[in-house]
Amino acid sequence: MIITIDGPAAAGKGTLASALAERYHLAYFDTGMLYRAVGLDMILQGYSPEDEEKAEKIAQSLTFGKMIKLSEHPDFRSQIGGDAASKVSALPKVRSALLKMQQDFSLNPVFADGTPANGVVYDGRDTGTVVCPQADIKFFVVASPEVRARRRYKEFAAKGINISYEQVLADLLARDKRDSERSTAPLKPAPDAILLDTSGMSIQQEIDSAVKIIDKHSEA
Ligand code: DC
Repeated sequence: MIITIDGPAAAGKGTLASALAERYHLAYFDTGMLYRAVGLDMILQGYSPEDEEKAEKIAQSLTFGKMIKLSEHPDFRSQIGGDAASKVSALPKVRSALLKMQQDFSLNPVFADGTPANGVVYDGRDTGTVVCPQADIKFFVVASPEVRARRRYKEFAAKGINISYEQVLADLLARDKRDSERSTAPLKPAPDAILLDTSGMSIQQEIDSAVKIIDKHSEA
């Protein structure tokens, strides 16, 4: 089974994707990590994240091992890392360099320890439209900007990252605008995606709604 989960930043994609992967014994592919790895590597090497030629080279030489290593860097999940990831993810050459790695994963999905899995839950932009248009179920998870900013703010606070709620909201709105207006992989649901608005939902309610939809789909 292949499930894709797309939607704006902090809508609850990651939480849902990992919960579904666990419930259905599927591998979990957080595709944002690829863009974060490329973006962070660009910064660490002193390049601008908008330098498409350099970013393409870094994307072409990215491996899962290198991505995991970069994910241990403190800026991998910080605002700086997120911003760099957002910028490199808007570069068409970077997206095409990372496409095969994502598509190949569905042919031989594996768990984090390398054991084979029966399928995969993809988390990320364009996974339902470009990476895996043949996916069995596609979710497009949304929530209001205020709800998403509150969730992101709590995540940052838990990690000891010092940033105000107002700043998180402003950054999120700027990111949404850039993501939906860009010509490469704009933030847009696949025509056959199921819209899941998590604004008023707890994490458990979000998971339960998705499970109900998947189980109904599997019975059909
Ligand atoms: O999901 P995330 O915040 O870790 O993603 C980091 C950035 O990469 C974010 O700006 C969205 C972008 N991204 C993308 O363009 N395509 C994907 N498949 C995954 C993430």
